[in-house]
Amino acid sequence: MSGLLAGKRLLVTGVITDASIAFSVAKLAQEAGATVVLTGFGRLSLVERIAKRLPQPAPVIELDVTNQEHLDSLASRVREHVDGLDGVVHSIGFAPQSALGGTFLETPWEDVAQAVHVSTFSYKSLAMACLPMMDQGGSIVGLTFDATKAYPLYDWMGVAKAGLESASRYLAMYLGKHGIRSNVVAAGPLRTMAAKSIPGFSNFEDAYSQHAPLGWDLNDPEPTARAVCALLSDWFPATTGEMVHVDGGYHSRAA
Ligand SMILES: NC(=O)c1ccc[n+]([C@@H]2O[C@H](COP(=O)([O-])OP(=O)(O)OC[C@H]3O[C@@H](n4cnc5c(N)ncnc54)[C@H](O)[C@@H]3O)[C@@H](O)[C@H]2O)c1
Repeated sequence: MSGLLAGKRLLVTGVITDASIAFSVAKLAQEAGATVVLTGFGRLSLVERIAKRLPQPAPVIELDVTNQEHLDSLASRVREHVDGLDGVVHSIGFAPQSALGGTFLETPWEDVAQAVHVSTFSYKSLAMACLPMMDQGGSIVGLTFDATKAYPLYDWMGVAKAGLESASRYLAMYLGKHGIRSNVVAAGPLRTMAAKSIPGFSNFEDAYSQHAPLGWDLNDPEPTARAVCALLSDWFPATTGEMVHVDGGYHSRAA
């Protein structure tokens, strides 16, 4: 077996369509020699159908990251397919409609709490659920939309992403002694199912397409997936608590 991820055993969350960032990660990872186990949320038969489109069909395990029973049994269910994990991909995000779209000042706490539970706290929950399977160290990678700035309409999802970025730095600090790295990839806007629920998404699309120094293809998740695979590989052995931008360079210049 040869390739960047030869011999790596990976758990990839977040596939719902073949446009999902997680689908591209799973595809590239398999092509690079990894064994991939997927998790699916809710519409399991749909995820199983999408999984069959991968170069090698991947097993799908049910995981709602807010369900403690699912988290508690995750390691034993993953162990039915692989004997350990070298990498985990968190490609999960959700916010109720009231948390997006310009009603930031009125959003009730219950909706903010749901956004933070699914999109932020789950990064820690997933890492801890996988820890028993990562006894040889490994790499955890999350997906963010650079939350160091406030964007019109992104609202509490931006706050949740800022929390995710911070949670990744804390995991890097607490899990470093286990040889586990934690990093996030800050992707530019991509046309996925999650993106469809973000009001004003077309504003992001126009800004990145027009101003990213390298240009930006809204329909191509592969550059993002490549960065995730690189961080899962042995080629970033001393990098943790980092945020890698994959946005055509948009973040680096004033619009
Ligand atoms: N699309 C973009 O423009 C963009 C840009 C930067 C970062 N991201 C991030 O990338 C990640 C993946 O999103 P995507 O764009 O591929 O969209 P997507 O809709 O394909 O994936 C989102 C996934 O989150 C899962 N999910 C939602 N609630 C869950 C729960 N309770 N438990 C487990 N899984 C749950 C969904 O099932 C889905 O698979 C998200 O964190 C998103 O915020 C997306």
